Amino acid sequence: MLQRVETIEALRAARKALSGRVGLVTTMGALHEGHHSLVAAACAENDAVIATIFVNPMQFAPNEDFAAYPRSMEQDLAALEKAGVEIVFTPTPDVIYPQGFQTFIDFEIVSKGLEGGHRPEHFKGVGTVVAKLFNLTQPDRAYFGQKDAQQVVVIRRMVRDLNFPLDIIVCPTVREADRLAKSSRNVYLNTEERQAATVLYRALRAAADAYEKGERLPATLRLVAREVLEAEPLAQIDYVAVNDPRSLIGLHDVTEQPMLLSMAVQIGKPRLLDNCLLPWSLNDSKGLTATLGA
Ligand code: PAJ
Repeated sequence: MLQRVETIEALRAARKALSGRVGLVTTMGALHEGHHSLVAAACAENDAVIATIFVNPMQFAPNEDFAAYPRSMEQDLAALEKAGVEIVFTPTPDVIYPQGFQTFIDFEIVSKGLEGGHRPEHFKGVGTVVAKLFNLTQPDRAYFGQKDAQQVVVIRRMVRDLNFPLDIIVCPTVREADRLAKSSRNVYLNTEERQAATVLYRALRAAADAYEKGERLPATLRLVAREVLEAEPLAQIDYVAVNDPRSLIGLHDVTEQPMLLSMAVQIGKPRLLDNCLLPWSLNDSKGLTATLGA
């Protein structure tokens, strides 16, 4: 039976009653198959699973979609129950950030480029809430999606730097039939934009094809991806980047070490993200967990 808890006290009591290995899946709700894949992996690999649903105001900038962020609580709870999750924590913002709250997790380097370049306070909000959720739920393993690759690197940095006693497991990006990465924000796309959005995956694949043919110069791999994106009139490129998947330092020289190719592209209202590791064979849970932020 799924137990829903909304207060710190109730969560701590419910956590205490669990035994064995505990897996954690943190979400902002509006659950789709991307989230469900993390839940399924957590259920398969642990004795008990805790999920969290909290649209975290601290990681949204004032101009972003906090108020409009999609919410589907009843449906989410039913899906978590069906998957076999033991506890779901659904706090309100005042439970997480009571009056007087003033302690934050911030990062020197890993949060600065890519998404952090566009959203300067975003990872401070993510790090702070995830640190709190780790402390509250005391998991043995926590599951994160490749879809938000920089988030994985940032969280793994925090786990190492602050000695959280847990393992981070990375799950591959779950996609629609036409390979668009599943995202709660895809609902903002109209029919024409939804069709155009397939260009992100095509751009990743074009660069991966070039990599498979032997191309190793980051600038050329970026250009190959960029050319595919530029052929789509509705796509406004924010960045196409090639970084070291462990440190997120930008890569410039030819290398046989794995690379993270990532992109942010505005199509209509939403800014869409996608990424892959090169070589492509690393884009499964084993390769991702061993490489991304490792
Ligand atoms: P949210 O966007 O709800 O995502 C929750 C988890 O699901 C994240 O680890 C994310 O990477 C993963 N995820 C989302 N789409 C996915 C997809 N298509 N395939 C695989 N995994 C996917 O990420 C957050 O929430 C927040 O920042 C959070 C970590 C909960 C902190 O507030």
